[in-house]
Amino acid sequence: MNKGFWQLAALAGSIWLLALGASRIATSADEPRPGIDQAGTPQPSIPWSKQKSGFEFQSKSNRDRQEDLTSNPGMLWVDQGATLWSKAEGTSGKSCQDCHGKPEKMKGVAARYPVWEATAKRVHDLDTRVQECRTVRQGAEPLKPESEPLLALTTLIAHQSLGMSVAPAIDGAARPAFERGRALYNERAGQLNLSCAQCHEQSWGRRLRSEVVSQGHGNGYPIYRLEWQTLGSLHRRLRSCYLSVRSEPPAHGSEDHLALELYLAWRATGLKVETPAVRR
Ligand code: HEC
Ligand code: HEC
Repeated sequence: MNKGFWQLAALAGSIWLLALGASRIATSADEPRPGIDQAGTPQPSIPWSKQKSGFEFQSKSNRDRQEDLTSNPGMLWVDQGATLWSKAEGTSGKSCQDCHGKPEKMKGVAARYPVWEATAKRVHDLDTRVQECRTVRQGAEPLKPESEPLLALTTLIAHQSLGMSVAPAIDGAARPAFERGRALYNERAGQLNLSCAQCHEQSWGRRLRSEVVSQGHGNGYPIYRLEWQTLGSLHRRLRSCYLSVRSEPPAHGSEDHLALELYLAWRATGLKVETPAVRR
């Protein structure tokens, strides 16, 4: 394809986005708001029974590539993670395995993450949890965000929950973080003045440039993305979403980022963990 084509395609995409923003301004009075039922339980904009994994929006070949674990390119990170799992690190001279046993012991963890951690009074996702174990318990340097070893370990851990239903807890002390995530999700941002909800809850199924907009679930992360030619975290995906509306994402591991991830996990309740998913 020549450069002119892509410029035209990008322009067409921007016009679509602007039209979406404008149409929402015109009808903002009836903008659907994520509800709370009479019992005080939050309810999603897209009913639970209509939730679809991003998997369903992928081509047949990508779905096959994801499901056949012998050809899923993300499995290379799972394998690398398994090697790192049993490697002693830091001043403790201990490996993950020394304290946790086999990686299989992590089954179910990713399905209930991110979690509110009562003692530290904070939300942990798998990234921040692994970093904590590395620095506090192994006495090693933190791994770089988005680095190969960190992705390998989090992919290994998440993969242990493959096929389990996403079920994070948002009650009690976790609720304020959840509400923060919900606010971020529904807040218009960037030069294009669009919220996550406008694309993923009000426009899913529509085409944007060369992609079909999905419901924006994080149940397959970390994912192998063909466009990246590598594996990446949910944060990396969110960065692309923020950039597409010309806005800055919250910093990796920041309170806002974790709150948004908690909200995303709640919206994906009942979908299956698919790590490592494959995306175009
Ligand atoms: C301009 C429209 C747009 C906005 C606004 C937007 N996204 Fe996206 N998002 C996309 C597109 C396009 C993709 C790639 C196709 C897909 O999977 O939906 C995507 C993908 C995703 C995915 C990955 C889905 C998967 O199955 O791999 C997640 C999660 C996501 N977005 C969350 C968000 C969040 C959270 C926000 C707000 C901070 C947001 N998006 C804002 C368009 C948007
Ligand atoms: C010295 C022992 C020790 C080592 C080494 C260690 N951990 Fe941990 N890890 C713990 C303890 C103890 C907890 C429970 C913390 C808590 O509940 O507050 C934990 C919790 C976790 C959790 C959360 C589990 C859950 O159910 O929520 C993950 C994930 C994890 N560790 C991953 C790792 C990884 C990956 C490594 C290696 C890079 C590692 N840990 C190394 C002791 C260790």
